[in-house]
Amino acid sequence: MNISTTRKDFPILKRRINGKPIVYLDSSATSLKPQYVIDAMTKYYTTYTANVFRGIYTMSEEATAAYENARKRIAKFINAPSEKEIVFTKNTSESLNLLAYTLLPSRITKGDSVVTTIMEHHSNFVPWQQLVTKYGGTLRVWNIQKDGTLNIHDLKKLVDRKTKIVTFTAVSNVLGTITPISEIVKAVKRINPDCLVIADAAQAVPHIPVDVVAWGADAITFSGHKMLGPSGIGVLWMKEALLDILPPFLYGGDMIREVHVKDTLFNDLPHKFEAGTPFIEGAIGLGAAVEYLQKIGMDQVRRHEKEITSYAMKRLLSIPGVTMYGPKNPEIRGGVIAFRLEGVHPHDVAQILDEDNICIRVGYHCAMPLHEFLGVGATCRASFYIYTTKEDIDALVLGIKKVQKMFK
Ligand code: ALA
Repeated sequence: MNISTTRKDFPILKRRINGKPIVYLDSSATSLKPQYVIDAMTKYYTTYTANVFRGIYTMSEEATAAYENARKRIAKFINAPSEKEIVFTKNTSESLNLLAYTLLPSRITKGDSVVTTIMEHHSNFVPWQQLVTKYGGTLRVWNIQKDGTLNIHDLKKLVDRKTKIVTFTAVSNVLGTITPISEIVKAVKRINPDCLVIADAAQAVPHIPVDVVAWGADAITFSGHKMLGPSGIGVLWMKEALLDILPPFLYGGDMIREVHVKDTLFNDLPHKFEAGTPFIEGAIGLGAAVEYLQKIGMDQVRRHEKEITSYAMKRLLSIPGVTMYGPKNPEIRGGVIAFRLEGVHPHDVAQILDEDNICIRVGYHCAMPLHEFLGVGATCRASFYIYTTKEDIDALVLGIKKVQKMFK
């Protein structure tokens, strides 16, 4: 991967604010978009705007083909055995809500449990917390170890024959921890073969090669906007046999086969879960994003991010007063670094960095339970992607030193 060629594909990187370039270190929140994705969406708007599955005319057929081709491409990207297993949603939160709302009513009775981890994004915590108790079950929380990793042996205490779902992040959006998915799946299924395993892959699919067959999980979820695609399009992947027996989440147009006054017959997979006109151009944009990532190669993406993350950890750790969270080993860490600066509130750090157009995120990063567990208030977070350079990291380090000087 040639970083300077890659950067040329992202028009926003040409922008200057107050004459200075942008140092974008907030890709875990949302990624920048390459011209290739922008062009794919513009082409839909300018040459074949039409609804899908409805019109017997050229443009509608073109739109349907482009929408379904995107689904096929995404299926291949994560090695899904069938494109019928790819459900388009709004985002990861909606994919996880779909699962919680449709799985729990039939699976949870009094005394049952669902397991999630302390380092989840709220989207993989709140739906379970709010809904499991409604059906008489309990939510069990899997804590992390000091180094930010999960101890697989804890599953013996957390999972039993009445545990119906184990759900966890594939890559933490705060600690960067890469969880050993296939090992967790095997350990859970050894204890309870009927327990479903779900991986929130919002921070994984954009950054590491993903193979759902090798992972062995029953369902995974991710968002388009974190992987070079547009906001408002997300994905739920679930094994066909499981998806087939799930009831629909939302009712309406397109998700039906026949509607009569007394009853309705639902559509085939995956349409049963895509009620109403979908975000057609969003799916097309995400398909283009996947094509772009495939051209680079996910091994290259991971290799680049590992190099950047190792460099950033080394440089940040050399600054006195910086505390970093998460695993120190770059092999089990994605391109995310949460940190705190002694004596300075994270919001002040972000504001001063912004004077030099250095974009980081500060706050709880939608992971308040994790921050409570760590015993820290807000943290600063720098996150990387294919366009991040060592110069971006150097700018961050300089910026942090500037903050320290101001707060001395
Ligand atoms: N989930 C996004 C983040 O971690 C918004 O920043």
